[in-house]
Amino acid sequence: MEETIKKHVSLAKSVLVKNRSSGYTIPSSSLYPHQWNWDSGFISIGYSHFDTGWAVRELESLFKAQWANGMLPQIVFNKSSLGSYFPEPDFWNTEVSPHAPEGYLTSGITMPPIHAFAALSVFENSRDKEKVKPFFVWLYPRLLKLHRYLYTERNPDGNGLICIRHPWESGMDNSPSWDRVLRTIEISSEKLPAYRRKDTESGVSHDMRPSNEYYDYFVFLIELFKKSRYDEKEIMKECPFLICGPLFNAILCASNEALMQISDILKEPYREIEQWYQLTAKSVQDTLYSHEHGIFDAYDMRTKRLLKVETASGFMPLFGGTATPRQASRIYEYLDSKSFCALHQGNCFTIPSYDTQKEDFKRENYWRGPVWININWMLMHGLRRYGFIQKADALAHHILELPIRFGFYEYYDSVDGRGYGSKDFSWTAALFIDTAYGTYLKKGADGGSGIAKRILFRNIVLNSTEESSGIEGTTISQKMLGAIREIKARYYTSRGTVDYASIKTSDEYREYKKITASLRDFDLSLLQSRNEKLAFWINLYNTIVVDGIIASGVQDSVRESARFFTKMKYRIGKYHFSPDDIEHGILRANRRKHYRPWSQFGPLNPKKKFSLTEPDPRIHFALVCGSRSCAPIKYYTPDGIDEELHMAAQNFINSSEVMIIPEENRILISQIFQWYRDDFGGRRGILDFIKKYILNDDKRKFLDESGNKLKIGYLFYDWSLNK
Ligand code: DGY
Repeated sequence: MEETIKKHVSLAKSVLVKNRSSGYTIPSSSLYPHQWNWDSGFISIGYSHFDTGWAVRELESLFKAQWANGMLPQIVFNKSSLGSYFPEPDFWNTEVSPHAPEGYLTSGITMPPIHAFAALSVFENSRDKEKVKPFFVWLYPRLLKLHRYLYTERNPDGNGLICIRHPWESGMDNSPSWDRVLRTIEISSEKLPAYRRKDTESGVSHDMRPSNEYYDYFVFLIELFKKSRYDEKEIMKECPFLICGPLFNAILCASNEALMQISDILKEPYREIEQWYQLTAKSVQDTLYSHEHGIFDAYDMRTKRLLKVETASGFMPLFGGTATPRQASRIYEYLDSKSFCALHQGNCFTIPSYDTQKEDFKRENYWRGPVWININWMLMHGLRRYGFIQKADALAHHILELPIRFGFYEYYDSVDGRGYGSKDFSWTAALFIDTAYGTYLKKGADGGSGIAKRILFRNIVLNSTEESSGIEGTTISQKMLGAIREIKARYYTSRGTVDYASIKTSDEYREYKKITASLRDFDLSLLQSRNEKLAFWINLYNTIVVDGIIASGVQDSVRESARFFTKMKYRIGKYHFSPDDIEHGILRANRRKHYRPWSQFGPLNPKKKFSLTEPDPRIHFALVCGSRSCAPIKYYTPDGIDEELHMAAQNFINSSEVMIIPEENRILISQIFQWYRDDFGGRRGILDFIKKYILNDDKRKFLDESGNKLKIGYLFYDWSLNK
């Protein structure tokens, strides 16, 4: 594990340990001194990587305070830390409800139900699953009870769209989404009890917190709940704030999916949960999607209208898997635009909570602009399941970069990354840990020879038997690539993976194989110019790797077959070419693979005559190798090759493979640079290369000024196959 990431994973762990209270972890000591509902879900996911006991305890202590009707409270108060938060139990008065739990002090509202999703992660990440099982058995009926409460008490139209009745229930307390509805509430000072905010006395600036106007609404709604004795039917009749939002409903769907998996583990039936999932998913698609907006909106139950406001919650159906593929590509256009910090835009952090181009966007104010780690984290999962891998990786990058550079803050400035709100915030630390483990600490991801299972197989000539489709001329490699791209697009699953098994028996693949058979008659001397050679061989490399994966049935990683890159071959004319021949022998001008002492082609190898004369280091970012860290498949054309390689390099340098940390005088870069150091011209060459392609002005300036003091760390190369 790279040193800087390792150091910050341990700092993140110590944030959680420091924030421990009696049986749970508080979000932060300055602002939130009790147990919070969805915070505990995220926190348990962080613990699941290093302390299963605490991960379990976190959820257990929250669910012990579950209400008799199934509601899981937003806050469980610590009786011995009362006095520094508002509103506390004396204000909530939940004892007027027959459902409030005995022996626990809680608030009278709930929050987004991330808990089944979190519980499943705790189980999956635990080393000793049998030990976690009894907890699972205990938690399962409680999770069901929570979901059932939502579908019976919070589902006014019966269509599976679950409504919240207080902005705090949304998790995005002062989101601009609520402005219009809240401002219809007439509040006079006689209607409001006297109260004193404590959050602005905690050392966090007023500008970062909700306004006083918003607090009046918060309090007004609590008064209404108390009058209704927290009776849901009564509240449904009276409450002016009744909203079904995409964030809450997407999280519920993700948790319904997890709950089905938990049922499966416990061998329980899950028909009811499946119906919940389908009902909500359909209503999210049909009712919450705004075509005009290209985003999902919240729905106002009172006026039966969408609240068209451009917040990050509108992308959350990606997390719940509830956007149709069309809706997903439409919202992706907006998500990946200047409004929310586009890929390779430079000079910004993604995903801000509110469209940065709006007049009332606020850099530092709570849910009205800053970047939140939990939203990024859920969207990272969502983007991945819809196949937007590059963007998902960009989010992972920022989930790690922001805390490493600026500390474990509650939220961050989307322009310069400055941290806001409370310091040492638990879910930031927890999701940092989860992302670091998921992105950079995967098992077996050690690059070189390593511990991966070795499958020794014979040379496989992938184009030896099929009849040829008779294609001639230099465009053959592009035709092959075109066919592979279509096949991949067709067999992309909604989880963002490729169904290689179905490809293998498809007509499309059979047709593709006929094109590859034409290679046997291809005359390599047709490739004259350097540009023609570069485009031909890069495209060929990218197709042979995909073809090899399909043909060999390699499941998890191309590393599973240590000889994959030497044994898979295409016959071209008289010769057989493996991916290693193409990469090291031809494109890198016959150099050695990083862990081998000798050049790819020996002195007498006749294939040497096809080698390029000079390596172009940019090819490393154009060669796709069936691994996540490699670039997505693109066409390379003889006429456009320079620009195309420029783009490939630029995309890579501005991705999660390069992390610049000026505060530590450090740069973390992909192992590719370590392995192919000579292609780049050594340390100086690597840094010049990065400087040339980096899009963030401050980082370029930092690289310019740092000189020899700069420390370089290497991020491991992720060999897992994007199946
Ligand atoms: C707050 O800001 O105090 C809210 O309770 C957060 O849920």
